[in-house]
Amino acid sequence: DKGTYPFYMLKEIDEQPNVMRKLSQVYLNDDGQPVINAELLDALKAADRLYIVAAGTSYHAGLVGARLFESLANVPTEVHVSSEFAYNQPLLSKKPFFIFLTQSGETADSREVLLNVNEQNFPSLTITNVPNSTLSREATYTLLLHAGPEIAVASTKAYTAQIALQAILAKALGEADDQPAAKDFDVKQQLALVANGMQALVDEKATFDKLAKADLLKTPNAFYIGRGLDYAVSLETALKLKEISYVQAEGFASGELKHGTIALIEKDTPVIGIITQQNTAGLTRSNLQEVEARGAKTITIVTDALAKPDDTIILPTVDERMTALLSVVPGQLLAYYTSLNKGLDVDKPRNLAKSVTVE
Ligand code: F6R
Repeated sequence: DKGTYPFYMLKEIDEQPNVMRKLSQVYLNDDGQPVINAELLDALKAADRLYIVAAGTSYHAGLVGARLFESLANVPTEVHVSSEFAYNQPLLSKKPFFIFLTQSGETADSREVLLNVNEQNFPSLTITNVPNSTLSREATYTLLLHAGPEIAVASTKAYTAQIALQAILAKALGEADDQPAAKDFDVKQQLALVANGMQALVDEKATFDKLAKADLLKTPNAFYIGRGLDYAVSLETALKLKEISYVQAEGFASGELKHGTIALIEKDTPVIGIITQQNTAGLTRSNLQEVEARGAKTITIVTDALAKPDDTIILPTVDERMTALLSVVPGQLLAYYTSLNKGLDVDKPRNLAKSVTVE
């Protein structure tokens, strides 16, 4: 039930701090150590490479997860779009392990891959929000997202839950393998910081409503740019905007803009820059200056520690590997308010269904 919310999407955005806390409760003990099925951990430890397979927003969560598995558990990780992998399987490593990310657990494209994986007798894990869903039943292992039912077609809390759970799993795997980066990573503390940071962002709704009205309501198109994890979040926030507000939006690696797409920048084209990674902050800022020089209207979403006086939205500082959990929230709210102010049905955008059971 939506309670006093006009749309489920806003309620689900607001629930994210609690979803972070819930995942901490379910998957971490009092000492902050992950509590993960031992057989699952052994199977993951035996793998020489992880293959994350997913569609849409879940694919975008996988892009962030891959960085967590590589940096915390030191295991090479690839991320693939289900519909591509299903009919164009790349050469696999000797001991692959498959991770399916799927909110609904019913996505046909992802299931097609799982059927192939099962035929080849490879171990697999489904991370899903729906117990007993098809992909949960058909994979070797399952972990639940505990995000509560997600009703709005545009996925929000399932995305952040997928990232948080992958952080916990990467920590668990890294610890099991004696990786120093995993030992030093206090995932419990980080999730607590993230939950508070999310709360601070969702408490600023009027700011996002105003920004959406000023910069996104009338535009035919918009760009989100970033590097590394900020690029992954650019893809996700662009998808949010296009699916519910019908603004043509693209997420770009900020260094790629100048290789062609910058030709699309005109006077007042909105360009949203996400800056949370210290090693590339300066580069993305130069890319923003390049589009500004061509008339773009820029909005910046920046971690406190990297902020400059003119930045638009400041994110509380968390571990650099966890910033996606915060930097996505402004994008979710901007998409929400653009759709709302256009008078659209935020929860049920045209042409879309909550779970996509055809290939
Ligand atoms: C976008 C969205 C879709 C889903 C995709 C995969 O907001 O919701 O892109 O993420 O259809 O769905 P699941 O995660 O159920 O496999």
